[in-house]
Amino acid sequence: MNVKSAKFLTSATGLEDCPKSSMPEFAFIGRSNVGKSSLINLLTGKQGLAKVSSTPGKTKLINFFTINDSWSLVDLPGYGYARVSKGEQEGFTELIGDYLLERENLKQIYVLIDSRNEPMQIDLEFIAWLREADAPLTIIFTKVDKVSMPELQGNVNRFTQTLESGGVDIPKVLSSSSKDKLGRGLILSSIQKLLPKGKSAKKKKVNISLGWMKK
Ligand code: GTP
Ligand code: MG
Repeated sequence: MNVKSAKFLTSATGLEDCPKSSMPEFAFIGRSNVGKSSLINLLTGKQGLAKVSSTPGKTKLINFFTINDSWSLVDLPGYGYARVSKGEQEGFTELIGDYLLERENLKQIYVLIDSRNEPMQIDLEFIAWLREADAPLTIIFTKVDKVSMPELQGNVNRFTQTLESGGVDIPKVLSSSSKDKLGRGLILSSIQKLLPKGKSAKKKKVNISLGWMKK
């Protein structure tokens, strides 16, 4: 799928504040610093569209980007950022939780996991919670440029096995590296599968000779 245009639309603090839209929406969530904003820039091919920082907690709002004037990518703040208070963490969970579970045009939630880590409780619990709520979910293991193939395989296996042993169904799994530009094609095609069909099906051109009209 071609990304022909990608524009920042607006920011919101919670569900109430989100733009009224019936466009299919695809949201990116995960721990602070996992690479959500970088991945949105990779998918759109526009560096700097979503703000990236090596300091965790950069994205603080729900940011909407309109793609090809027909669907949206949503960059969410990260969870598990150590430097926010417990109250702020709870506020975050409530605001983002409402968005994730109640946004009607949200077609898929991409949960990003740092491929360097052993399974972390906060990620496992977050995925279990989304599964419980029957939310549409795909996992993306990020920063694969930082691990070898066997390490990646080992960490993915340990993660999915831990989910399974906790009674959680394993979601679809993809991987990415924003640094090495990997994973873009598969992520975009997973989005494309959820877009309404038909718009690209051009009407057949009917070729009628009008020669008989000439006098
Ligand atoms: P918050 O908004 O703070 O929650 O972070 P985020 O999840 O949006 O992460 P962001 O995209 O801002 O990236 C965090 C840091 O990781 C930055 O220093 C990025 O350059 C780096 N980073 C992101 N993706 C990759 C990747 O695929 N490979 C490598 N090596 N670094 C990456
Ligand atoms: Mg961010």
